[in-house]
Amino acid sequence: SKGNHRHFMLKEIYEQPIVVAQTLRAYVRGFEGQVSLPTEDFDLSSVRRVTIVACGTSFYAGMVAKYWFEQFARVPVDIDVASEFRYREPVMEEGGLALFISQSGETADTLAALRHARANGQKIAVVVNVPTSTMAREADLLLATHAGPEIGVASTKAFTCQLAVLATFAANLARAKGRLSADEERNIVRHLSEAPAALNGALAYDEAIEAMAPMIAKARDVLYLGRGPDYPLALEGALKLKEISYIHAEGYAAGEMKHGPIALIDENVPVIVLAPSGPLFEKTVSNMQEVQARGGQVVLISDYDGVEQAGEGCIATITMPKVHPLIAPLVYAIPVQLLAYHVAVAKGTDVDQPRNLAKSVTVE
Ligand code: M6R
Repeated sequence: SKGNHRHFMLKEIYEQPIVVAQTLRAYVRGFEGQVSLPTEDFDLSSVRRVTIVACGTSFYAGMVAKYWFEQFARVPVDIDVASEFRYREPVMEEGGLALFISQSGETADTLAALRHARANGQKIAVVVNVPTSTMAREADLLLATHAGPEIGVASTKAFTCQLAVLATFAANLARAKGRLSADEERNIVRHLSEAPAALNGALAYDEAIEAMAPMIAKARDVLYLGRGPDYPLALEGALKLKEISYIHAEGYAAGEMKHGPIALIDENVPVIVLAPSGPLFEKTVSNMQEVQARGGQVVLISDYDGVEQAGEGCIATITMPKVHPLIAPLVYAIPVQLLAYHVAVAKGTDVDQPRNLAKSVTVE
């Protein structure tokens, strides 16, 4: 049931601190400061390349994971949307690990890609939310997210739980490859353990986000910008908005604006900038200022320091808890989900059952 929430989507957004904690409990030994995944039967030390395949929101979780796999484990990662994967005749060498991410575990494109990878000798790992699903059954390594049933067509809690699993898997792979010291592993575990409280902190801005929704609801187009591991969050924010509010939205890597999309900017296009303070902050802010100089209406989502430093001249700011860059993609998922939700409610669309969409897409 929706409990006391108006929609399943809102209920599921609010469940995130709990289900992310639940998911982390399955893959982390907090006291020892170690990740622990059911990879005993797997020779992860011999993995030379990871191929990630998924669709939609699950694909964006995979994009974030690519940063982590490469950063921690120094293993090269390919990533494709499932509907493109087979047709580009991907090179699959021995020692390859193919990783499929899916809430439902039934998405036809992803399943077809999984079977294609298996036929090409890849080891198959899956991150799925439905443990009885077809993908779960066909995997060599099953990493379940423990988000519980997700009813809203717009994926929310499955996404943050996928990120939690993928971060622990990246650390696990890094350890197996001899790339992670015990200290580094302990730090990763510590940062991840801070995620549930930070997600709660982010939810506290629900009302502030609701208050700005009518302004965004009037827009015809909305842009989302992010950098590094927060770039996929910009894509996710745009997908969420399109999907449930039917407003045209695009996500861009912040630095890519000047290569074309900046021509779209005028005072009618809200630009949502995701910029947690950290090593990429200055660069993102300078991209944001290029937008402002052309009359762009910027909504800055950052932490207290970031808003202090760069909030001037923005039409609105949303202050997130200050977190380690590792968990920023989880925390910044909350404001983009809430923004899409409140804009959709302001527009009066069917939030849980948007037009033309199904929860699980079982045709290719
Ligand atoms: O069940 P899956 O994770 O495989 O589904 C993939 C996409 O269809 C899904 O994420 C879709 O993009 C969502 N409706 C996004 O909110």
